[in-house]
Amino acid sequence: MKSILENRPALAKEVNKVAEVAGYLWQKGWAERNGGNITINITEFVDDEIREMEPISDVKAIGVTLPYLKGGYFYCKGTNKRMRDLARRPMENGSVIRILDDCASYVIIADEPIAPTSELPSHLSVHNDLLSKNSPYKASVHTHPIELIAMTHCRKFLEKDVATNLLWSMIPETKAFCPRGLGIIPYKLPSSVELAEATIKELQDYDVVMWEKHGVFAVDCDVMQAFDQIDVLNKSALIYIAAKNMGFEPDGMSQEQMKEMSVAFKLPK
Ligand code: 13P
Ligand code: ZN
Repeated sequence: MKSILENRPALAKEVNKVAEVAGYLWQKGWAERNGGNITINITEFVDDEIREMEPISDVKAIGVTLPYLKGGYFYCKGTNKRMRDLARRPMENGSVIRILDDCASYVIIADEPIAPTSELPSHLSVHNDLLSKNSPYKASVHTHPIELIAMTHCRKFLEKDVATNLLWSMIPETKAFCPRGLGIIPYKLPSSVELAEATIKELQDYDVVMWEKHGVFAVDCDVMQAFDQIDVLNKSALIYIAAKNMGFEPDGMSQEQMKEMSVAFKLPK
């Protein structure tokens, strides 16, 4: 069977980036079983031949109406599929979907009828919001980073920007490479529309948001950059924990040092 990626190097490159990141998520221990999901907006790579491809699934409801997604195409990790498998075989552990004209349903078009991630309402709501703002962001990543999730089991870290400031203060790069910080979303049922709505709301101010006691959700121009933002935050959490394990509370960079960083790197906050 011919893959949708065949003779489409630009599209294949983006899907292969998803596979590369999926491998990192597994190596980091952030992707137990089927944990985590990735979607990318691939509409820009779609040609007439793809637009004419017959659906290979029934029409399925998204659960929300998303006007900016009309006629859009997304590569999505499959529900219940493992990141470690996706890393080696992205088109056997994910699929390409087409959003239908009602903006509330989709069909799978390639390569196999693999049902997309259960977090599709969150992912697609976020892509819809990004398109409504003409954002250059095309990728969304949800994963289960151990140390960041552990922090959400402590009430003080759930207060606005407490975790952000602590994580920024552990090493200068975290503020430079995750300049909008870490938003916090109080616990909501996984895959629910409520979680999707809270996610878009919080992403107005942050590129990475925490789903309390569950995982993070990040957006960026491509999947590699979304991964990098999560990775620098979790690195800071590891430094914090290392200091605590050595028996002391880390000093953290001072507010002045962090302000100096913002000026030098022209950071938004
Ligand atoms: P899926 O296998 O449906 O993508 O779910 C994994 C997950 O992390 C849910 O939050
Ligand atoms: Zn999850």
